[in-house]
Amino acid sequence: MDQKVVLITGCSSGIGLSLAVRIAKDEKKRFMVYATMRNLSKGELLVKAAGRTLGRSLEIKQLDVCDEKSIKACVDSLPERRVDILISNAGMGLIGPIECQTIEEMKTVMDTNFFGLVRLLKEILPDMKARKSGHIVVISSVMGIQGILFNDIYAASKFAVEGFCESLAIQALRFNLKISLIEPGPVVTEFEHKVYEEGMKTDLSKVDKLTADLFTNIYLKNYNQIFSSLGQTPEDIAEHTHKIITMDNPPFRHQTNTLYTPMTTLKYADPHGDLPIDIFYKMVFEHDKVFNASLNFLKLLRWRSRKSFTLDKPQS
Ligand SMILES: NC(=O)c1ccc[n+]([C@@H]2O[C@H](COP(=O)([O-])OP(=O)(O)OC[C@H]3O[C@@H](n4cnc5c(N)ncnc54)[C@H](OP(=O)(O)O)[C@@H]3O)[C@@H](O)[C@H]2O)c1
Repeated sequence: MDQKVVLITGCSSGIGLSLAVRIAKDEKKRFMVYATMRNLSKGELLVKAAGRTLGRSLEIKQLDVCDEKSIKACVDSLPERRVDILISNAGMGLIGPIECQTIEEMKTVMDTNFFGLVRLLKEILPDMKARKSGHIVVISSVMGIQGILFNDIYAASKFAVEGFCESLAIQALRFNLKISLIEPGPVVTEFEHKVYEEGMKTDLSKVDKLTADLFTNIYLKNYNQIFSSLGQTPEDIAEHTHKIITMDNPPFRHQTNTLYTPMTTLKYADPHGDLPIDIFYKMVFEHDKVFNASLNFLKLLRWRSRKSFTLDKPQS
């Protein structure tokens, strides 16, 4: 059987790195992985994790999702330019009150998280259409479905990704192409640390006292606890994604964290959209002690349910 060619973006750390290694180590050797990163000098961690797969089922290449030339050069360097499975993973976060963020900072997030995907597809989609085969997998987020306090711009970038993919999926069907959105909740990676560190440095002098207080004493204060209670590992996300790319009929949407599902379900339960907003408001501002206790309880549940997952029914 021919190996499928998998191109993954953002493999210098976190989810991208784990994905590249997991897929390259596929038990049935079904994949040839091109693990890409914008800065090849950051490849050391991947080289170490790839071990014996390096030069066999895994190759490292340069690709910056914000640079069309770099995307084209990378795709041109592949045998017959063939990509069977594209995993669009590269991304960045941004937290804080919008009053403290510049339009340039916001544009960088949109440029990476949303236009990065668009640029990749402008290069890869025509070949997939011509071959009438291909799977486009996008690492989205639960924040592509449900906005979260002080993640306004990041959530907007992931909503853009989701709207784009929902529209494209209809056309893709006509060409026998598959699209899957992977929607993790919090994942403990460099992302978490980078976003938190940047958040801590926010110049709050540009915002009113109440907003500054909400950001510092509610959001940032709970940030680490949310990750330690609900957070998955990048290896968990890699395992879920590996399962999705080996399915005959992969789903369009796949949430990786069953503990988060009740929160995103609220969105679909109320066509007016007030329910999730009210519940989040009450959880954060009126019942913060219950919220904290729930996070501790969730931490315990996570620990107990860490072992396995299934794609078609919730974990017990
Ligand atoms: N961590 C979470 O809680 C979480 C939750 C849901 C979804 N996600 C999504 O998961 C994806 C991966 O995030 P992660 O958690 O693994 O974070 P991470 O460890 O910070 O990894 C992000 C990767 O994206 C790369 N990247 C950033 N800008 C790029 C560009 N212009 N071109 C190419 N690569 C670029 C980074 O490269 P450099 O090393 O060069 O910066 C890094 O390799 C993102 O799309 C993120 O939105 C994360």
